[in-house]
Amino acid sequence: MEEVETIHRGAEIIRNGGVVAFPTETVYGLGADAFDPIAVARIFEIKNRPSFDPLIVHIADLDEMSRLATVIPLSAEKLIKRFWPGPLTIVFLKKEEVPDIVTAGLPTVAIRMPRHPIALQLIKKADRPIAAPSANPFGYVSPTTAEHVREQLGNRVDLILNGGPCEVGLESTILSFSGEKPRLLRPGGLPIEEIESVIGGVETSPVEEAKPSSPGRLPRHYAPRTPIVINEWKQNLGAYQNKKIGLLAFREVNVSFPFHHVEVLSPRGDFREAAANLFAAIRRLDVLNLDLILAEPVPEVGLGRAIMDRLRRASKR
Ligand code: TXA
Ligand code: MG
Repeated sequence: MEEVETIHRGAEIIRNGGVVAFPTETVYGLGADAFDPIAVARIFEIKNRPSFDPLIVHIADLDEMSRLATVIPLSAEKLIKRFWPGPLTIVFLKKEEVPDIVTAGLPTVAIRMPRHPIALQLIKKADRPIAAPSANPFGYVSPTTAEHVREQLGNRVDLILNGGPCEVGLESTILSFSGEKPRLLRPGGLPIEEIESVIGGVETSPVEEAKPSSPGRLPRHYAPRTPIVINEWKQNLGAYQNKKIGLLAFREVNVSFPFHHVEVLSPRGDFREAAANLFAAIRRLDVLNLDLILAEPVPEVGLGRAIMDRLRRASKR
């Protein structure tokens, strides 16, 4: 864990228009002052991120909502009470003064209160909301350790705060209140079942639109270099003889096939453990120069829905 002085130095950098990578409970973020358009522009530059992809604004205190959102519907308020700080991002109609570069010109703003103590201290000390995407080059797997950030963006950011491996390991669930019914924009670290237990039914069908309102939903996203195939591999191993294959297994397996490398996400088949290990496991496989990564599908309930969502996007070519 970082020393308090380092976190305060990070806050000072943010206040001066710099960019700081920091841990959250979901994945590492790349943060700048949400009300400083030039600082935010640097995030897009560093990530090589298209400007049509809006950022999540991170807060540490509910008071900050009044500078960001116009209306807070009652059911959103219930979710905030129950799940913040935590892996839930909520999309609201935005206040005029939120810079366009943060919201990609949309009339809405995505807000979340992370629960990692370093993130909370950083935001509090900076004394302003921090706009932050995941701290990876655009389209690549999100970082779940400070080393992941250092490997890919190390020399391009002003400071990397190290908070150890992320507890959740998947990005936040994104829920929009900009339409008539609450709508799921991205499955993530908070299972939809838990949200529905508080506010009832949520729209989960994807919206048809020219410009995706959540590019985390672009078909190919969170992708490693190595092709990934999602497969009930037990049945089809013959097709992979003579190839350098890695296996991304959900639970403990007993295989006779000569896999080059096997990653087991959770030996006992626990979703939380699997989610926390997913991105690091994909990275470990991705540096082995494999011909292919075979990924075992997981049941699509609870966190399994977000895990399968990320696997599908990672497998798109
Ligand atoms: O867990 C997380 O959410 C992490 C940590 C750092 O907080 N952040 C993260 O940010 O995953 P990013 O930028 O990688 O993904 C944010 C997603 C993008 O797909 C973006 O399109 C969507 O949130 N988003 C941001 N603002 C939005 C808005 N106003 N309306 C709809 N979607 C929005
Ligand atoms: Mg991202």
